[in-house]
Amino acid sequence: MRSKVPSFIMIPSILSVIFFIFYVFLDVKDIFYIVHPITIFFFIIITILLFILDSIDNIIYQKRLKSITEKERRIIIEENEGNYLYLFYKFLFYDTKKINRNVKKIDHGFDGILELDNKLPMWWIHLFYLTIFFSTIYFVSYFLTDFSNPYKEYESAYKNQMKEIEIFDKKTPQVSLKKASFQKEFINDGKKLFEENCSTCHQSDGSGNVGPNLTDDYWINIIEKDLFKNIFSIIWYGSKNNPTMRAFGESGEIKGNDIQKISSFVYYINTQSKKPIKNKIPQGKKVLDWKKS
Ligand code: HEC
Repeated sequence: MRSKVPSFIMIPSILSVIFFIFYVFLDVKDIFYIVHPITIFFFIIITILLFILDSIDNIIYQKRLKSITEKERRIIIEENEGNYLYLFYKFLFYDTKKINRNVKKIDHGFDGILELDNKLPMWWIHLFYLTIFFSTIYFVSYFLTDFSNPYKEYESAYKNQMKEIEIFDKKTPQVSLKKASFQKEFINDGKKLFEENCSTCHQSDGSGNVGPNLTDDYWINIIEKDLFKNIFSIIWYGSKNNPTMRAFGESGEIKGNDIQKISSFVYYINTQSKKPIKNKIPQGKKVLDWKKS
C-alpha cells in the first residue's frame, strides 16, 4: 500500500500549480485579475474541492488499513502518522541502502523482465525538492513582488539612466558660436552625426541634394567672416531665406558640442582637395577669402 501524502502538503502544492498555470499560461499579468472577486471565488471553490478529495482519500486509506494484517498496518501507521517533525527527519535522513535491501520487484509479466523498484538516492531527491523550493521563491519574487520584477527593474534602471543623462547634460558646458572652433579629432564623430541629421538633404558626402553642395566654394549664406564660424552659425540659426534649412541649434534639436563636431566635418570636406565626383550645381556667391580661423 502506498503512503498517503499529508493534506498540508498536497493541497498547497496543487493550489500553487493551478495558480501558476492561471498566471503564466492564461497570460494575466495584471494584478487586477488576481485579486478579482471571481478569481478568489474560483480558488475558494478549488480549495473546498481539494478538501473533499482529501477526505475521500482519507476514508479509503482508513478502509484499506482495516483489510491488511496487524503487522503491515503498524508499519504503515508508523510511516504516515504522528509527529510530522519526526517524519520530516526520517524523510531527510533515512538510509536508502537499508531500504533497498528488501527492494520491491515489479514483474511486467508479458516480457519476462523483472524491474527493481529501487529508491532514488537521497541526494537526488533533496536536490529535486530544493529546485521546487527555489522555484517558489523565484516565482514570488519575480511575478508577485518588486523584489526582482524585471519590469520594475527596467523602469527604475531607465529612470536612473535618464537622470544621469540630465546631470551629465547640466555638467557639460556646451560650446556656443563664440567659442567653437575647428578640431581635427571631431571629424569622425561629426561624420556620423552628419549622416544621421543632414545626409537626407545634403548627401552623406555633402555633395548636395535638396540642400546645396557643401564641398564647393559657393555659399548662399554668408554670415560670418570665418568659414568654420559661418558653417556653425547656419547650423545653429538655420537659413534666414529658406526655412527648409532649420535652426538645429536654436531649437535645441542638436546641442552645441555636437554642432561643433558636425561643423568640423563640414569644414573638413569643404577645405580638403578631394571632392565628390557627382556634385549639385553651384548655388550662391563664390567665396575664397575666408578669414583664417
Ligand atoms: C530638410 C533638409 C535639410 C536638412 C535636414 C539640412 N539641411 Fe542644410 N540646407 C538645406 C537647404 C534647403 C539649404 C539652403 C538654404 C538657403 O537657400 O539659404 C541648406 C543650407 C545649408 C548650409 C549653407 C549652405 C550655403 O550655401 O549657404 C549648410 C552649411 C548646411 N545646410 C548644413 C547642414 C547641416 C550640417 C545639416 C545637418 C545638421 C543640415 N544642413 C541639414 C536643407 C537641409
